[in-house]
Amino acid sequence: MNEILKSISSAKTLNELDKVRVSLLGKNGTITQEFSKLKNLSGDEKKEFAASLNSKRDEISKALELKKTELEILELKERMRAEAIDVTMFDESGSVGALHPITITMNKIIEYFLSQNFSIENGPLIEDDFHNFEALNLPKYHPARDMQDTFYTDDARLLRTHTSPVQIRTMENSKPPIRMIAPGAVFRRDFDLTHTPMFHQVEGLVVEEGNKVSFANLKYILEDFLKYMFGDVKVRFRPSFFPFTEPSTEVDISCVFCGGKGCRVCSQTGWLEVLGSGVVDPNVFKFVGYKDVSGYAFGLGVERFAMLLHGVPDLRSMFEGDLRVLEQFR
Ligand code: DAH
Repeated sequence: MNEILKSISSAKTLNELDKVRVSLLGKNGTITQEFSKLKNLSGDEKKEFAASLNSKRDEISKALELKKTELEILELKERMRAEAIDVTMFDESGSVGALHPITITMNKIIEYFLSQNFSIENGPLIEDDFHNFEALNLPKYHPARDMQDTFYTDDARLLRTHTSPVQIRTMENSKPPIRMIAPGAVFRRDFDLTHTPMFHQVEGLVVEEGNKVSFANLKYILEDFLKYMFGDVKVRFRPSFFPFTEPSTEVDISCVFCGGKGCRVCSQTGWLEVLGSGVVDPNVFKFVGYKDVSGYAFGLGVERFAMLLHGVPDLRSMFEGDLRVLEQFR
């Protein structure tokens, strides 16, 4: 027995330990073989032999289990040592860092709208119900609130579920004409292949006095913007619903992967949805006390743009900080 326990405790790797286990308790293992002697015995002799064999086997199993845990910890420690990165170490290779794909994409979007004389506005990440929902024509108990699973705080505020509240704050604080975008992080209770609890949007709003702003203006700017972002794509406007715009439209581009022929990414439709937009609903203007104005608004998801621009297949890789992914954006 001492020999056996020694062979267990001297195993140096999980692999070695498993070989020892098989040699003892495997189908042809020495202990398993001893069990077959039972059939030649009878009575008390059989009982005694069985009892001692069982306790021997239990003792061996326990020793194997203990050793396994010990080796697992050792191997984990070794792996952590081997894979550790000393972030304080000076990098002598001369390599430089890279902007994150989301930053690259955000910058490109902002660049376009700055060229079209839009200003950049910001709002708080922790919002109140009024700015995130109510003033955007999303009354309490409106079913459209379900479109956005919300994180609430203890004091009845919430993490903004979209950048649209910045529209409201900007209108509250200034008079038309307004020509703004609001880039930033938003939050939703959602986590799977295509959703992360934090992601980024860019909101846009244009308001002028009188009825100067129409759907045609919206159509022009978004088509021009999408061609700036994606090159020579087709753009189509599909009727949709958002509480804060009327009429509302979702905007598609011809699939950047198959050129519109149909592939896995576009679910064989040839089109990719990239934006929500519409003519600002008069109710929204009422909430901020605007009279005799007209406007359009739009909102887009930056991660989606980044994935389409750079062919990133999995949204989650945007947030894992894996150098093998990030280095490709240098
Ligand atoms: N806020 C919408 C969302 O998060 C996106 C959006 C759609 C914004 C249409 C708009 C708009 O300004 O007009 O899903």
